[in-house]
Amino acid sequence: MKHLLDPMDISVEEIDGILDLADKIIEDPLKYSEVCSKKKLATLFFEPSTRTRLSFEAAMMELGGNVIGFAGADNSSAAKGESVADTIRTVECYADIIAMRHPKEGSALVASLNAAVPIINAGDGGHQHPTQTLTDLLTIRSLKGRLDNLTIGLCGDLKFGRTVHSLIRAMSRYQNIRFILISPKELKVPRYVKEDVLKTNEKVTYEQYERLEEIISELDILYMTRVQRERFFNEEDYVRLRDSYILDAPKMERAKSDMIVLHPLPRVNEIAVEVDNDPRASYFKQALYGKYARMALIMTMLGVNA
Ligand code: NCD
Repeated sequence: MKHLLDPMDISVEEIDGILDLADKIIEDPLKYSEVCSKKKLATLFFEPSTRTRLSFEAAMMELGGNVIGFAGADNSSAAKGESVADTIRTVECYADIIAMRHPKEGSALVASLNAAVPIINAGDGGHQHPTQTLTDLLTIRSLKGRLDNLTIGLCGDLKFGRTVHSLIRAMSRYQNIRFILISPKELKVPRYVKEDVLKTNEKVTYEQYERLEEIISELDILYMTRVQRERFFNEEDYVRLRDSYILDAPKMERAKSDMIVLHPLPRVNEIAVEVDNDPRASYFKQALYGKYARMALIMTMLGVNA
């Protein structure tokens, strides 16, 4: 695997390998604490981030490696008008692997075409976010014990939410996945995402709902998402749609006792704080799994072993 731009860049076998390695790291982290010594990760974040950037950096540090980079385009030469291609050609002189987040769809592809070192897409606009997907898959496999035979509800901004696009792509390759898409009409999953998935698995079906209450009782996983304010064309539409879904205790009462609630975070209003105390709320555990998934990914992409 040279670059990771999209979940489809890795086979199901490779995903299983990364998740198995993450499990081993969780069991015995000390064994891996020096495997990346003398290696450097560059984190180039042209867009805000808490979990993705810090978990990448913590992951590299826990592997004994070093981290360089910037958080915010204003702190880089992008503010002077430098292109992504030139930034990458420069950073590869200083780092062995690069994780990049950028507001433009396709920017990770541009980076990869100009890079001699592996590029990891840490989010490109409203397009894809494959390392969040590895995080989600590790969380689901750890908490539910399987990645097949699941009914997964994706709720909120399914149009601009890149984590949703990547998760659908990845999960569609497992057996017997029932996708329940819960969104306002304006924020449905884009057609290209669904059509692309059908090319690899024509059996995939999607059920569309507008009300979470109608269907929550059937879900094994509820994946909540934030309405992506920064991708809207006007503020009025955002304000009208931002509180379309608020998961609260009465709604949780209708759900299965072993349903898990995931959210890539950050949360705004879509999950009431009261839900955090429910044992089914798993979004902060998910953030922790993100570090282990990224440790396993970095090791795999750099070809290092314990
Ligand atoms: C997500 C993202 O950046 O796409 N956050 C994350 O990486 N955990 C989700 C979001 O910003 O809503």
